[in-house]
Amino acid sequence: MADPTEPVLEARDLAVTFPARRRQPAARAVDGVNLALGRGEVLALIGESGCGKSTLARAMVGLIEPNRGEVRYAGKPLRRTRSGLREFRRHVQLVLQDPYGALNPRQNIHDAVAEGLRLHGQRAGLTRRVGEALEQVGMRPPEHFFDRYPHQLSGGQQQRVVIAGALTLGPEVLVADEPVSSLDASVRGEILKLFLSLRDELGLAALVVSHDLGLAWNIADRVAVMYLGRIVEVGTVEEVLLRPQHPYTRALLDAVPSTSDLDAKTVLRGEPPDPTAIPAGCRFHPRCPLRATLPEDRAQLCLNDVPVLAPALDERQVACVHADAAPPAAVPHDRAEVTT
Ligand SMILES: Nc1ncnc2c1ncn2[C@@H]1O[C@H](COP(=O)(O)OP(=O)(O)OP(=O)(O)O)[C@@H](O)[C@H]1O
Ligand SMILES: [Mg+2]
Repeated sequence: MADPTEPVLEARDLAVTFPARRRQPAARAVDGVNLALGRGEVLALIGESGCGKSTLARAMVGLIEPNRGEVRYAGKPLRRTRSGLREFRRHVQLVLQDPYGALNPRQNIHDAVAEGLRLHGQRAGLTRRVGEALEQVGMRPPEHFFDRYPHQLSGGQQQRVVIAGALTLGPEVLVADEPVSSLDASVRGEILKLFLSLRDELGLAALVVSHDLGLAWNIADRVAVMYLGRIVEVGTVEEVLLRPQHPYTRALLDAVPSTSDLDAKTVLRGEPPDPTAIPAGCRFHPRCPLRATLPEDRAQLCLNDVPVLAPALDERQVACVHADAAPPAAVPHDRAEVTT
């Protein structure tokens, strides 16, 4: 029997480096990530623009070959052979930010949803399975949409169609890269609720990439915080968003506008993170507000020691040698204040 605590999708010491190009040095976009997605859980991956979220998501669905480390599905390493990738894609599906870009404008909704089944040679009961997938994403009655084209649907409906297409092969995991950021604010909540209902009704696990903390708060069971190609903190949504331990997570949370906490806002100082020039020691040290408050001998550790985050499933992990020195959050963030 499957072990419910065993991760369904996992990154182990995963690294993706984009090679140097003319005048542009190599970029270590993902630089040693350990991350485990549990069965039927929603894990939000958050972090500033350029920290490597999309690259990690693409590597975890097998679209990018890592330079180091491995992706594991159901405890087994992903084999990058044609058949290995094909089998993996039945279980792990990617949903992108822009549904209109993901859909072929000349393909009707029936055929768009059927695409994955066709590619996998599963033609038996095709139309029935397309109908079921559309129902699962709340497009009822499904026949009503079969002959329509993407431009005839709203952005929210288009994203539902993309998700329906991802569901036809009966995956266990969806990896969604900013799935609502291109949508009108009015429909974002509906699409987010859809991920929750897919988790509850189908037991689907989801890794949802976002730079929006409100989104993480509203849908995630756990949150992973990424900085310059590494996970710096991971834990339950309450642990990470209400009681952040890593100075970077704390700074991110303080940057969220909140009427009760405007004065206490920490502004992240220093250069924006650059994956072509990763600082030695703790990669966050040049911008770390906590380090600035430490005595010199303790602050020196940030230059000498590379903090590690052990692979984790159920409990919070923090990659900071001074995590225990972080003061408690001055103003607890109220769930209602973080909106999507
Ligand atoms: N194909 C590529 N070639 C070279 N560098 C790349 C490539 N794709 C991404 N990068 C670089 O890798 C780093 C991480 O990019 P990535 O798109 O993964 O970040 P992100 O966290 O998804 O950002 P955003 O929130 O803006 O979507 C960035 O510095 C980016 O410039
Ligand atoms: Mg991205």
